[in-house]
Amino acid sequence: MGTLLSNKNILVMGVRNKWSIAWGIVKAAQNEGANIIITYQSEREKPGAEQLGADSIFQCDISSDEDINNLFASIKEKYGVLHGVVHCIAHANTEDLQNDFVYTSREGFAHALDISAYSLVAVCRGAKDIMTEGGSIITLTYMGSEKVIPGYNIMGVAKAALETSVRYLAYDLGSGNIRVNAISAGPIKTLSAKGVKNFGTILDTLPEKAPLKRNITQEDLGNTALYLLSDLSSGVTGEVIHVDSGYNIMGL
Ligand SMILES: NC(=O)c1ccc[n+]([C@@H]2O[C@H](COP(=O)([O-])OP(=O)(O)OC[C@H]3O[C@@H](n4cnc5c(N)ncnc54)[C@H](O)[C@@H]3O)[C@@H](O)[C@H]2O)c1
Repeated sequence: MGTLLSNKNILVMGVRNKWSIAWGIVKAAQNEGANIIITYQSEREKPGAEQLGADSIFQCDISSDEDINNLFASIKEKYGVLHGVVHCIAHANTEDLQNDFVYTSREGFAHALDISAYSLVAVCRGAKDIMTEGGSIITLTYMGSEKVIPGYNIMGVAKAALETSVRYLAYDLGSGNIRVNAISAGPIKTLSAKGVKNFGTILDTLPEKAPLKRNITQEDLGNTALYLLSDLSSGVTGEVIHVDSGYNIMGL
């Protein structure tokens, strides 16, 4: 057991099951001594969240301002102070990940942006008042925000909004010594990823083209999350760090 995060209260949002990226980050943070607070969306996700032996578990549907307010009030009451937040939440309607992007509905566009990008703004607003000792907030993004990945569609647009939000939030929260960064992850087989039409192709292409010649793992993401959550990254904010075996640097 390491001590990188000992005595740190870390909130991890978006554990669905053992394949979730959030799951790997919880494991990594627990191994470094963190007190973990987990949120799950609804009763359906509760059994997965319960398996991780977290210090606390709260329900929070990120589309509900009431749930978000209740969450941070509960954390304040129980812990007083929060040191880190990991935001691993995204959603788009199935049809918007299956049809051509040009057919995205007004409702589907707003929904994806609300759950996948605005939610980070709402979470930062709730968290900052109890991050009184400074700290680190991280979110998960994908390079479909920078380049066209056929099938990623509205999620690419949402991730672009998320990454820009990271920069504005980093500016707003910096005076409180709260850092905000994103990890741009290579493809990982999770329930959300399976909703993307071309996910199999995305997964197969990366090891062929990326410098490291392999797909990434939950552990790779957990390690970078530890760096960003801990004082090892004390001078880093507003960044998007790619953890994708280097795939994003390739032109061909
Ligand atoms: N899997 C990949 O290939 C990949 C690559 C890059 C980035 N990401 C990002 O990583 C993050 C985690 O996704 P994952 O791949 O681990 O999939 P996942 O399905 O395991 O996790 C997605 C989570 O979002 C939660 N969520 C969705 N709507 C919600 C709502 N209204 N309220 C609260 N929670 C809600 C789900 O409950 C789930 O826990 C997402 O932001 C995703 O876009 C994933």
